[in-house]
Amino acid sequence: MRSNDLQVVAEKLSERGITGFMGILTAMEVQQPPGFKKSFGKEFNAFKVYVKERIDSLEAQLKLPESLKALYIDISLPGSQRAPGIEHPLLKTMNQIVAVFHHLGYSTALGPQVESDFYNFEALNFPPNHPARDTQDTLLVAGQQAKPSRDRLLMRTHTSPVQIRTMVAEAPPIRIVVPGNVYRNEAEDATHLARFQQVEGLCVDTNITFSDLKGTLDHAMKELFGSSVKTRFFPSFFPFTEPSADMQISCIFCGGKGCRKCKESGWIELLGCGMVDPAVFASVTEARSKLNPADAAYNPANISGFAFGMGVERIAMIQHGVASAGTFYSNDMRFLEQFA
Ligand code: PHE
Repeated sequence: MRSNDLQVVAEKLSERGITGFMGILTAMEVQQPPGFKKSFGKEFNAFKVYVKERIDSLEAQLKLPESLKALYIDISLPGSQRAPGIEHPLLKTMNQIVAVFHHLGYSTALGPQVESDFYNFEALNFPPNHPARDTQDTLLVAGQQAKPSRDRLLMRTHTSPVQIRTMVAEAPPIRIVVPGNVYRNEAEDATHLARFQQVEGLCVDTNITFSDLKGTLDHAMKELFGSSVKTRFFPSFFPFTEPSADMQISCIFCGGKGCRKCKESGWIELLGCGMVDPAVFASVTEARSKLNPADAAYNPANISGFAFGMGVERIAMIQHGVASAGTFYSNDMRFLEQFA
């Protein structure tokens, strides 16, 4: 009998409530001639002795030499476990924002984080030495002085340079969202970080008006914060948009009545936006004319556009009621696990 045959027999017997060696012999007594029990018992005992000897000798062979004991792995211990992980809360918010615009037909565009002065400032209508540059305290890459001003490298201070890169590479219509890291020489506090994240948007086509900008952003805010949220637009200034606006949403904590979070105003400022300045189209045309001198794809007589830019940390702070932006970068598992 092979051992699995024995197992089958044992299972069959236990189905009938017969377990153990004596049970087997008793069961066999019914069918076997007298004397069978005695001779079977003798052979079975011999088999038992044989099995015990084999096990002992195999154990002796498998005994680890002293030198290998340190490497001994106890395979009976549970294996090491890897938690599947979750999206970081900032990435989650960024993906939510991007998804809202994907549903409106926008596609994602990306650009380098080490950027040239031309794309970060000059083409966006921040002339060299212009005071508008002071609003974006810049981290410069060292050793760039020998280069012409527009070729000097810096850490991008906003995602707006990707507007220029996209328009130089592609003719209208353009509908893009640009998520990514940006850098500023900030004294860090609860709401300012030297490295933070933005989502930029750009739409360029024929007959794009300020109403399109308002309608698009109002829809996006309702998608992100719920359909009861209201938006309003205040005049502002950015060199690359004209007119420019700051967009506010009705306070999601008090519904607009006024509370500590909205400083009793009922409104929370969320992003900058505006109509693309014709000076930006002129820079794009200048860059495109190096490839095709007759290029007129960005002639402001035929096309117009809007742009907007928002900070991801700020939106995530509002969504989750987090008081300090730095918390998102603290890598404290107790904080992060709440978003699982
Ligand atoms: N780039 C601007 C900033 O970082 C935001 C912005 C983007 C404003 C697009 C208008 C249009 O402050």
